[in-house]
Amino acid sequence: MPQLNILVGTMYGGALDVAEQVKPLFEKAGFEVNIVEQPTLDDLTSGESVSLFVLSTTGSGDYPGNFVPFIRSLSDTSPSLTELRYGLIALGDSSYGDTFCGAGRKLDTLLEDHGARRLGERLEIDAMETFMADDAAIPWVEAWIEEQQLKAG
Ligand SMILES: Cc1cc2nc3c(=O)[nH]c(=O)nc-3n(C[C@H](O)[C@H](O)[C@H](O)COP(=O)(O)O)c2cc1C
Repeated sequence: MPQLNILVGTMYGGALDVAEQVKPLFEKAGFEVNIVEQPTLDDLTSGESVSLFVLSTTGSGDYPGNFVPFIRSLSDTSPSLTELRYGLIALGDSSYGDTFCGAGRKLDTLLEDHGARRLGERLEIDAMETFMADDAAIPWVEAWIEEQQLKAG
């Protein structure tokens, strides 16, 4: 069964909750899903695989602590990610102004700089507008699976 990793960056668990809520949608599409709470570069499996990032923002547009080692090794080793296709769900709060979804946006640029290809648009969930992040994430993932034809087998 093809594998899909959901790489999570979270401070307070909201992004992890989103990952857990969308996991069954990928399983229904035929994937074996791993939710990765301490992501490393090794979690970006090669070949035909797809990864989903679910990432909140802290500080002033900063990466959550659990995600920092992943970013460090990406910057330090600068691997080629041309085989990586990914989706990105960014959680943030527009009351933070310019740094809204800053971590998600930075990650998107960083992955692109390393040759990875994003599938579809990035989803940005604004805590000011969406009380339950799942309410925005679930329909987005359903449409994403459909649009990208992420049917396994
Ligand atoms: C101390 C702190 C700093 C934050 N800084 C930002 C920020 O710079 N930009 C942003 O869009 N959201 C910011 N947020 C909002 C969080 O990203 C948002 O509430 C998110 O849903 C938290 O997700 P989590 O539960 O996965 O950590 C901040 C929240 C806190 C508590």
